[in-house]
Amino acid sequence: MTTDLRARTAVELLRARRRSIALTDAVDDGDLVRQHSPLMSPLVWDLAHIGNQEELWLVRDVGGRDPVRVDIDRFYDAFKHPRADRPSLPLLGPREARSYVGTVRDKVLDILDTVPLEGRRLVEQGFAFGMIVQHEQQHCETMLATHQLRAGEAVLTAPSPPSAQAGVYGEVLVPGGPFTMGTSTERWALDNERPAHTVDVPAFFIETAPVTNARFAEFIDDGGYLDRRWWSEPGWRHRVEAGLEGPMHWHGDGTRTHFGHRAPVEPDAPVVHVGYHEADAFARWSRKRLPTEAEWEKAARFDPVSGRSRRYPWGDADPGEAHANLGQRHLRPAPVGAYPDGASPLGVHQLIGDVWEWTATDFAGYPGFVAFPYREYSEVFFGPTYKVLRGGSFGTDASACRGTFRNWDLPIRRQIFSGIRLARDPRPGEVG
Ligand SMILES: [Fe+2]
Repeated sequence: MTTDLRARTAVELLRARRRSIALTDAVDDGDLVRQHSPLMSPLVWDLAHIGNQEELWLVRDVGGRDPVRVDIDRFYDAFKHPRADRPSLPLLGPREARSYVGTVRDKVLDILDTVPLEGRRLVEQGFAFGMIVQHEQQHCETMLATHQLRAGEAVLTAPSPPSAQAGVYGEVLVPGGPFTMGTSTERWALDNERPAHTVDVPAFFIETAPVTNARFAEFIDDGGYLDRRWWSEPGWRHRVEAGLEGPMHWHGDGTRTHFGHRAPVEPDAPVVHVGYHEADAFARWSRKRLPTEAEWEKAARFDPVSGRSRRYPWGDADPGEAHANLGQRHLRPAPVGAYPDGASPLGVHQLIGDVWEWTATDFAGYPGFVAFPYREYSEVFFGPTYKVLRGGSFGTDASACRGTFRNWDLPIRRQIFSGIRLARDPRPGEVG
């Protein structure tokens, strides 16, 4: 049992590392140390930070070994240095950073072979290793967003996503009543997903697909960005100050830039690179609203036949290629209807993968939340400042994506792979 767990954990660590290497080997040293946007770290910072977190948790804490580079800890502490300041730090250069992460990883694979995976909560079922796998994959998604912001020639390639196999449109009714939200059993679930608890969610309608580019373009064409009526007060203020006129990377002529390629916006694919404020304005213009986080999770996990909450919309099986557009297999969202095998029992498609979906809910701890293993993973972000996003994107790895997984960001952020799904309350008489 633990041999199997160790082997699977090693595979996950290697998979994450292959991706970090691919994302950093794709550009030259000048591009690695450059800051492509004040919103992002230089790629070389992400790389060494991945190694530093791995050293702190797995080499020093779990393994009880001597530090590899105690002198660099302070430069890679995300809380000490905001992204905009990171280029001015005495960071490891590309060669040093690569060698550092390799040294740390060699030690970690040795520790994984020998350390008991029980007796201490941090290592129970390999949790600390799983946390580090997810951390690396989360930074890979961040690095992918940096690639999207990078100017210059295209360097990343991937096959096109599958085309639509099913016509998916309209909305479904999710019946009212209690369901189990969060998890107490998922092996590598992070602190903010815990514990499992019952939430009573009144009946609501949710759209069966994310909002497409074509629908979002109608909002723009209807003057949606210029009409104060559709925007919240902070949303409108931000729209005016930032001069927003469409999703990030759109050019206003029906084209957008995607990882260095300029191409027509695909009408049937989910809109991506919109902030919470834009999502909220679009929802009002549509006479609908964003789902709450509980509604999103109920639509994704609740099986009305058994009454049970499942790990994913399609059931308990880990995500496969037919279920969802995850893991950077493709470099863009797939058209609506491309993943019929990934639909929920109620017929809601593409909840997992393609685009992160903004919810109306502020990021907060669940009842009974306990920070573990450190407050800075999620607890310090709780409060009205951050909105929750759900479901993962084409750039999210399956190891960091579950029906319970929670992401959060500022309402103005749109360099992330974020999109929109709409919900609404039933009208009088609509629900028997
Ligand atoms: Fe980090």
